[in-house]
This record gives sequence, structure tokens and C-alpha cells, in this order.
Amino acid sequence: MTYQYKSMITGLAFSVPKKKMTNADFEKIVDTTDEWITERTGMKVRYIGEEGQVTSDICTEAAQKAIAEAGISPLDIDIIILGTITGDVGFPATACFVQDKLGAENAAAFDISAACSGFLYGLTIADAFISTGMYKNILVMGGEMLSRIIDYTDRRTCVLFGDGAGAAIVQPSDGNRGIIKSIIRSDGRLAELLIRPGCGSKYPASQEMIDKKLHFLQMAGQEVFKAAVKSMGDVAVDILEQTQLTSEELALLVPHQANHRIISALAKRIKMPMEKVFINVERYGNTSAATIPIAMTEARDEGKLKRDDYCLLVSFGGGFTVGAVLLKY
Ligand code: COA
Repeated sequence: MTYQYKSMITGLAFSVPKKKMTNADFEKIVDTTDEWITERTGMKVRYIGEEGQVTSDICTEAAQKAIAEAGISPLDIDIIILGTITGDVGFPATACFVQDKLGAENAAAFDISAACSGFLYGLTIADAFISTGMYKNILVMGGEMLSRIIDYTDRRTCVLFGDGAGAAIVQPSDGNRGIIKSIIRSDGRLAELLIRPGCGSKYPASQEMIDKKLHFLQMAGQEVFKAAVKSMGDVAVDILEQTQLTSEELALLVPHQANHRIISALAKRIKMPMEKVFINVERYGNTSAATIPIAMTEARDEGKLKRDDYCLLVSFGGGFTVGAVLLKY
């Protein structure tokens, strides 16, 4: 099968804050155990931002490394797209703060709110912009400081999430490699399952809103689990069918890192052996939109993702949003 490649990733990097939080740290603040967290989620460590550190700080660090790898200047960047649900402020877009910190004066900058699918939504938008010939150098990021919206007294959610950022430079394909296909989907009927109800037009800032803890992330864990397994499996099957690629031809599956059991179920559905599935959820927890670029960068640095490998990226997140991107790296 020959593919028409429009865009390719030419720079890839990530950044996490320095401060670590282990399962043992959670044992001290909520009624949980290392054994429960490890067995149910696969997680061991997450990174949490220092006081005063903001999402645009870690995004900028990741972006600077990706820009250097692509061999371009910040001034070359046409568009900055940031997937985040934990921006620096209510508005303006955190991508604008990143633009300023990078000195990317010639770019237009905006955020997208697609929760954990933010990076794949961003890659899809970048591929579409490049396909039309409108732009050439696009910075796509997923970056979160989920620690800022987590209730650290709620054991059902607090152990799951960490902070981090990943960045990719997307440029026109050299003709031999790049994004083959992407699929993005949403199902708003499931929007209430994973939500931060407060701080918007429905529940603006008030003492009552804070007292009801509506400014924190809320999740119906089991329902999210089931929806994730089904929707990630469906989108992965569809993208493989539409590109006529088989899981044997894939070198690597890089799924959203929310839970090792969800990842195993996805791998089983598309008959992907676990040795070809990249998992780092034990080292970072769920960093939402950042998990996929962090995992891709680590896979590349460990030699598990090589130039010209076929690689499948699959995500799901609040919304419900789902994404799949199939590329020849
Ligand atoms: N430590 C110890 N016990 C915990 C716990 C924790 N951190 N969190 C929940 N429990 C308890 C529950 O209170 C419940 O106890 P109960 O039966 O006495 O009420 C018990 O464990 C089972 O809870 P349940 O929710 O059924 O567990 P689970 O096997 O579904 O695992 C999740 C919970 C959250 C790990 C799992 O549902 C999950 O991964 N869901 C998807 C979440 C996700 O990926 N979200 C991000 C989407 S991008």
C-alpha cells in the first residue's frame, strides 16, 4: 500500500516538573495502598508542579527542545496549538503565554479543550493545515498541571493524575514518511462522566461552588473505564481497516496512558502483542493531553520508535473525546 504523506513530525520532546509523588506519599494522605494503586492502575510515580510553576512553563521547556531538534527558529513557527484543560489562567489561551516565552512572534496561538485527546486533536488540525498548504511550521503540544484541579482528599481520583508536557514540530512531509490518517471523535452524551463542573459559566466562582468542591475534577471511574475500552478499541480497529494496515505491520502502539488495564484491553482488541505496546504509566501517571507525546519521545529515545516505523497513537478523554493517528515515523 502506498500512502500520500502531507505532514511529518520533525521534532519531539517533553518536560515534567521536578517534584515526585510516589504511591507511598499517597499512603500518607489518603486511605490507599501501593498494592491497590499498582494493581488497579499500574502507577508508581507522578510529577507535580512546584508552587508558582505554571502549565506554560513546562510546555515552553518541551517546545524549546522540539524546536531545536527540528532545526528551526521560534520565529519560523506559523501556528501554536496547545491541548490543555489546565491552562495558566481562565483566559487568554495558554498557547499565547508559550508564544511569548518562546519569542515565536510570527505565530497564531490557540488552545484546544479535548482533555486527554488534546494532542491527537492538535496533530489532526496541524496535518489539515499543512495539507491545504496554508502553513508550514506548526508547534503542537499537550500540557497539563492536573495537580491544580485535583482533590487530594479523594482517593478515587487523586492517585491517578500527574503534571507534564509534550511537544511536536509538524512540517510538510519529505514524501517518504508522515501522518497517514487520523480520526477524531466525540460523544457529548458522556460529558458528565469526567468533568470539572466549576469555574465556568454554569458555576462561576463563589464560596458555595468551592464548598461543594466543584472546582475539582470529578470522575465516574468504572463508567469511564468501560467507555474508554470500547471507544479506543473501535477507533483503533477503524483506522487499521481504513489504512489497510495490520497490527503485524505496526512497529508500535502508543496509547493514552490512563491505566495499564485499559491499555491491555486495547492491545488485545487489535491483537497487538504487549512487547509492541509502549507503557510508561508507572513513571508519570495520567498526564492527560501530555501522555502521548511523553510516551512517543521516550519510545524514540529508547530505540523502540525508529524512523520509518509504522506507529499507531490512540487516545480517549473527557468529552468524551477519542483520537487515533496512524503515522510512518
Ligand atoms: N485506594 C484504595 N481503594 C480505592 C482507591 C484508592 N486509591 N480508589 C478507589 N478505591 C476503592 C473504592 O472506594 C471502592 O471501594 P468500595 O467498594 O468500598 O466502595 C473500591 O476501591 C473499588 O472501586 P472501583 O471504582 O470499583 O475500582 P476500579 O477497579 O473500577 O478502579 C479506577 C478504579 C479509577 C482505577 C478505574 O475505574 C479506572 O481506571 N477508571 C478509568 C479512569 C481513567 O482512566 N480516567 C481518566 C480518563 S482520561
